[in-house]
Amino acid sequence: MQKNLVILISGRGSNMEAIVRAAIPGARVAAVIANRPDSAGLAFAESHGIPTAVVDHKLFADRSSFDKALAETIDGFSPDLVVLAGFMRVLTGEFVDHYAGRLINIHPSLLPSFPGLHTHQRALEAGVRVHGATVHYVTADLDCGPIIIQAVVPVSDTDDEKSLSARVLRLEHQIYPQAVRWIVEGRTRIDAGRVKVEGVRTAEEGWTLPPLDEGAGS
Ligand code: GRF
Repeated sequence: MQKNLVILISGRGSNMEAIVRAAIPGARVAAVIANRPDSAGLAFAESHGIPTAVVDHKLFADRSSFDKALAETIDGFSPDLVVLAGFMRVLTGEFVDHYAGRLINIHPSLLPSFPGLHTHQRALEAGVRVHGATVHYVTADLDCGPIIIQAVVPVSDTDDEKSLSARVLRLEHQIYPQAVRWIVEGRTRIDAGRVKVEGVRTAEEGWTLPPLDEGAGS
């Protein structure tokens, strides 16, 4: 039986696109749902024959009624896994509980550093030498859930927000399909707040670092 992925986006949708293009065996993208009608990624999904829906947060009086409508729409597609891919809404505890263990997110920093917004600018201001991205299970605390995979990039002296975000994004497009693949294969489990992936020794495969001269300054 194929596992149903429901992917939530708010804009460009390049991570959603990477997951669709990965054509993960045993999974099908059952729907792409956006909270903004003008989300550019919707056109890509439609052009690939993937059902789309919009649940516009501006039409709801509060967070809880929006989340309720969103969950109803998602559940209409019988999701095995709900994938937040650049979905820019903070979700209520009820929503997160409803999808406990089947809700994942990608965040553009090496969590627990730099939760929240403007991660690349904040990383540059902090003078960190390495930066990256994290795929994690979603829990009630923002950007805090158990980490599935991380990718690391070097930060060069000449970087600005644009160059650094582009370097991180390239790796986001590799680690997000990888994390989804592991989950679809049933290889992940959470043990005392830490994710174990069957057959993967974390130090070798759970993170990615591009060759320094390829990553730096590009
Ligand atoms: C990505 O950097 C993702 O990590 C963050 O928002 C951005 C979304 O980009 N949460 P896209 O919509 O997937 O292109």
